[in-house]
Amino acid sequence: MARILITSAIPYINGIKHLGNLVGSQLPADLYARYMRQRGHEVLFLCATDEHGTPAELAAAKAGKPVAEYCAEMWATQKALSDGFRLSFDKFGRSSSVQNRALTQHFAGKLDDNGLIEEVTESQVYSHADGRFLPDRYIEGTCPNCGYEHARGDQCENCTKQLDPTDLINPRSAISGSTDLEVRETKHLYLKQRSLRGQLSDWIDSKTDWPVLTTSIAKKWLNDGDGLQDRGITRDLDWGVPVMKGTAPWPGMEGKVFYVWFDAPIEYIACAKEWTDADGRPDAEWERWWRTDKGADDVRYVQFMGKDNVPFHTLSFPATLIGSGEPWKMVDYIKSFNYLNYDGGQFSTSQGRGVFMDQALEILPADYWRWWLLSHAPENSDSEFTWENFQASVNKDLADVLGNFVSRVTKFCRSKFGTDVPDGGAWGDDEAALIARLETGLRAYETHMEAMEVRKAAGELRALWVAGNEYLQSAAPWAVFKEDPARAAAIVRLALNLIRLYAVISRPFIPDASAAMLAAMKTEDDGWPDDLAAALGVLEVGHSFDVPDVLFAKISDEERDTWAERFSGVRD
Ligand code: 2FM
Ligand code: ZN
Repeated sequence: MARILITSAIPYINGIKHLGNLVGSQLPADLYARYMRQRGHEVLFLCATDEHGTPAELAAAKAGKPVAEYCAEMWATQKALSDGFRLSFDKFGRSSSVQNRALTQHFAGKLDDNGLIEEVTESQVYSHADGRFLPDRYIEGTCPNCGYEHARGDQCENCTKQLDPTDLINPRSAISGSTDLEVRETKHLYLKQRSLRGQLSDWIDSKTDWPVLTTSIAKKWLNDGDGLQDRGITRDLDWGVPVMKGTAPWPGMEGKVFYVWFDAPIEYIACAKEWTDADGRPDAEWERWWRTDKGADDVRYVQFMGKDNVPFHTLSFPATLIGSGEPWKMVDYIKSFNYLNYDGGQFSTSQGRGVFMDQALEILPADYWRWWLLSHAPENSDSEFTWENFQASVNKDLADVLGNFVSRVTKFCRSKFGTDVPDGGAWGDDEAALIARLETGLRAYETHMEAMEVRKAAGELRALWVAGNEYLQSAAPWAVFKEDPARAAAIVRLALNLIRLYAVISRPFIPDASAAMLAAMKTEDDGWPDDLAAALGVLEVGHSFDVPDVLFAKISDEERDTWAERFSGVRD
């Protein structure tokens, strides 16, 4: 039995996430966590909300709420949705927790002790009307290059030219529209990442089993001309972790907070502490997952994230950990994802284009989404959600293949033998062939799940469902019954046990349907089917079962078209 620490990139607090966000980290992380638990490993699966930074402040202002109150409410909303999607986090924490505050300040102090922090004086735009410094992208004006009137201080999205806020003609605050702006000097802390370049490079080189997507992004940032730069880790904002050197004040840094990307990954550690603190357990319990001097050297640590997050997890966060000089657990494997697009374009939070987590659960149960998203995970390239494809997958894989198998077998048995596993007959060559086929497929499924090859695993699982259907179709107990009822009973006995097997092995993908199948079979998941023949004999002659309700309803063309229309536009 191994110990496996699993983290999903932590979603921003400002707003409900769309299905593209979900499939880019939390959902595949959940698949892996569930599978590893089923295989008997000790798993700690963590996620949290990423609560600091300007977007959180602005979203709160828009909602007319104090930012702390806004974050508390949105955390509860996101938590309810993650429960709705059956994401099995051991802890869904908050980056604004006291634990994260203390750890973030601790890391900054250690980095400073180790000579890795430098104070830099910068010029930054201050808005009198807003009473705050403005981050570059919250300054708007006319592009000096193309004349576009809504260019942002960091870049013109019309001509893509990279800009400095001072390049803009007629600059104004994107928050209030005010032109009462002034360039002021301000001091910030920089993390001297360049001096950690050698150590980071050696560490990345040692990860020979990482997926190409992860390694290529890491190396690009490490080696490119403007690759690993020293990085500003503080901001002039109100909302965030106050800049402190451990527990001591940091002279000259009063009123400033750490940059959101500095404290967010530290929340992976803080979240483990939140998890134990919630039950009043001792520090040793989270430390055995995170401190290599306290047992974490036995842990395998896997992170899940979208590709845009890779630089922060392969360079910035490791720089924080290595630079601290303390024995923190470093990630062993990073599973990263491309993007999921929506119906010929992109999901857009600002335009409300695409399906968001709350809306998804309003129209269909979690398993339908889990199945489609995971079986179409954007692993090797970007992938695309279309309503046609979603309808086809649900109707074929879930309703016609798996759902229909369960319904046919249980109903046939009830009508001919009653609702106990029937006696009589014996298994022959057809059953031996099926079991051999299942054996090969199941072991391939396990290999893909271990390797986090999500699409391949889904494909293999589907093939296992199909194999059962094909067996049933060719064994045809309804035809055999007339001549040889005992033989029909033997076929049905196997098929009922197959329902149980499917429930167990499909659990990581479709936990609710799996629970419904187990309940109907009046049985439990009592372990992974290492011995397939034994697993297919668990429901013995005389074991009673129920005919379950329809497991998966088909999506009609009308529903499909209504939803396509509903989610194409602007969300109010
Ligand atoms: O891209 C995002 O959604 C970020 N909130 C991810 C942060 S992951 C980590 F650093 F905590
Ligand atoms: Zn321009």
